[in-house]
Amino acid sequence: MNVSPTKGTQFRPASRIASVGVSKILQIGARAAAMKRDGMPVIILGAGEPDFDTPQNVKDAAKIAIDAGDTKYTALDGTPALKEAIIEKFRRENAVNYALDEVTVATGAKQILFNAFMATMDAGDEVIIPAPYWTSYSDIVELCGGRSVLIPCSAQAGFRLQAEQLERAITSKTRWVLLNSPSNPSGAAYSAQHYRPLLDVLLRYPHVWLMVDDMYEHIVYDDFKFVTPASLEPRLKDRILTVNGVSKAYAMTGWRIGYAGGPKDLIGAMSVIQSQATSCPSSVSQAASVEALNGSQNFLATRRESFRKRRNLVVKRLNEIRGLDCRTPEGAFYTFSGCGGILGKTSPSGRKIKEDLDFTDYLLEEAHVAVVPGSAFGLSPFFRISYATSEAQLGEALDRIHRACDALQD
Ligand SMILES: Cc1ncc(COP(=O)(O)O)c(C=O)c1O
Repeated sequence: MNVSPTKGTQFRPASRIASVGVSKILQIGARAAAMKRDGMPVIILGAGEPDFDTPQNVKDAAKIAIDAGDTKYTALDGTPALKEAIIEKFRRENAVNYALDEVTVATGAKQILFNAFMATMDAGDEVIIPAPYWTSYSDIVELCGGRSVLIPCSAQAGFRLQAEQLERAITSKTRWVLLNSPSNPSGAAYSAQHYRPLLDVLLRYPHVWLMVDDMYEHIVYDDFKFVTPASLEPRLKDRILTVNGVSKAYAMTGWRIGYAGGPKDLIGAMSVIQSQATSCPSSVSQAASVEALNGSQNFLATRRESFRKRRNLVVKRLNEIRGLDCRTPEGAFYTFSGCGGILGKTSPSGRKIKEDLDFTDYLLEEAHVAVVPGSAFGLSPFFRISYATSEAQLGEALDRIHRACDALQD
C-alpha cells in the first residue's frame, strides 16, 4: 500500500459529527466563565440544573452502598431494586403499569434518548420535534443517522405543537414524535386537554411512535396538573417511550441516572446499544436513585415553591422592560422571553441588534449577564433565562438587563 507517511497524522472526524457542533449553550457558558475568571462580575443564568443539593437521605444511601461493596457491574439496564422503584413510581405518580422487562435505566436521560434513537433509526428516518427544543434532541437524532423535522411553535400557541402541525409533518419516514413537558427551554407544559388532539392524530398513524420527556414532571406551578400520554391514552402505550430521570427533581445531575418505560421489544433493543456503550449505569448512583424514588418526597414541595417565587419575580421584571415579552411558564426553571421589540435598536457602543444572538451577546458584554439566545433552541427572537439561582442574583441580573435595554437607541 502506498501511504504518505504524514497523511495519517492529520485528524479526520467522522462525517456523522459534521452537522453537530459544540452546543451554543456550552460556548456561552465557557465565555461567561472565562470573563468571570478575568475578574468581571458576570451573572450566569444559563444553568440547566437546580442550585439545590442532593437530599441527605439520598447521599447516605450512596455511602451505605459503597460500604456494602455495591461497587461492581450491575445488571445491564438497571438493578432489580431500581427497576422495582421505577415501576412503583410510574404506578404511584403516573398511573401507568410497566413490567420489569418494560423499564430500563441508563447513564442519564440523555443516554436513554441516545439508546432509543440508536436502536430505532435508519438513515433518513424522521423525528418530529417541536421548536423551541432542547438542543440535544436534534443533535442525537442526527448522530444516529436520522433527520430532525423541526416544527416552530409560537408563543401565542403557548409554545405547544398543534394537532394540524403534527399531522402535516407526518410522512412515511416518520419514526418518532418527541414531546417534552414541561419544556426546556420554554417551561411550557401540556395538560390532558393539550395532549388529547395530538394523541388522536397519532392513533391514526400506527407507524409513528411517541417519545415523551417528562424530566421536569415535578417542577410545575399553580394548579397545573402534570399528565403523561401513556396513562392518558392506553391504546398508544405500546408505542410510547416515557423518559424520565432523577437529575432535575432530586438535584442529582452529577449522579447520571435516567430511566424509561416502554414496550418490551424497544427496551430490549435499547439494552443492546447500552451493552456496548457503558455496560451498565453506575452501581452507587443506582443505589442512591432507589432511595430518591422510594424515600420521602416532601422536600419537592418546598423546592417547587422556591422555584415558583423566582419564576414570578423573573416574569414580572421581564415584562416591565420595554421590548421584551415573557409568557408565564407552567413549569421547569426557565423563562423563554420574546425580544422582538429590541431588534433593530443600537447599543451605546454602536452595535446593531439584528437578531437574538446579538442581544444576548450585548447582555453578556455590556451588562455581564449570560443568557442563551432562542436561536440555540430553534426559535427566534427569544432568549432563555434559567432561574435556578438565588432571588438576590436574579434581582441584580434583572436590574442590569433592564438598564441595558433602556440604554438601547431606536
Ligand atoms: C428536557 C431535558 N431532558 C433530558 C435532560 C438530560 O437529563 P440527564 O441529566 O438525565 O441526562 C435535560 C438536561 O438538561 C433536559 O433539559
